[in-house]
Amino acid sequence: MISMLGCSKKNEEKTNVQSGKELYGAYCASCHKDRGTGNFLFGIPRIKDTELTMSEIDQLIRYGHKDDKKMPMFSQLTSPQAYSIASYIKKHLRYQ
Ligand code: HEC
Repeated sequence: MISMLGCSKKNEEKTNVQSGKELYGAYCASCHKDRGTGNFLFGIPRIKDTELTMSEIDQLIRYGHKDDKKMPMFSQLTSPQAYSIASYIKKHLRYQ
C-alpha cells in the first residue's frame, strides 16, 4: 500500500480549471494513467470502460466510496468539474 501512496499527488487546492482533460491529467492520471488503463500491479483499476454512470463517477470523485477508501476523494472539486472529468472518461478515453 505504501507504494500506492506514492502515485497520489496530494493536491487539495481548489482550481478554476473546467477542462475534463486537464482535470483528469492533474488529479487522476497519476494513478489511472493518461489513457485510463490503470495499473494492475498497484491495484488501480482500468476505468476507460467503466460501467459507472456520470453521476456515480461524480459522487465517487467528490465523496469517495461508501465502504472502500482506497481511492482518495477530491472534495475540492465542484460538481461541474467532476462531471467534466466523467465526460472526458466516457467520451474520450473509452475510444482510445
Ligand atoms: C491514489 C490513486 C488514485 C487516484 C489519484 C484516483 N484514483 Fe480512481 N481508483 C483508485 C483505486 C485504488 C480504485 C479502486 C478501489 C476503489 O474503487 O476505491 C479506483 C476506482 C476508480 C473508479 C471505479 C472504477 C469502476 O468501474 O468501478 C473510477 C471511475 C475512478 N477511480 C475514477 C477516478 C477519477 C475520475 C480520478 C480523478 C479525479 C481518480 N479516480 C483518481 C485509485 C485512484
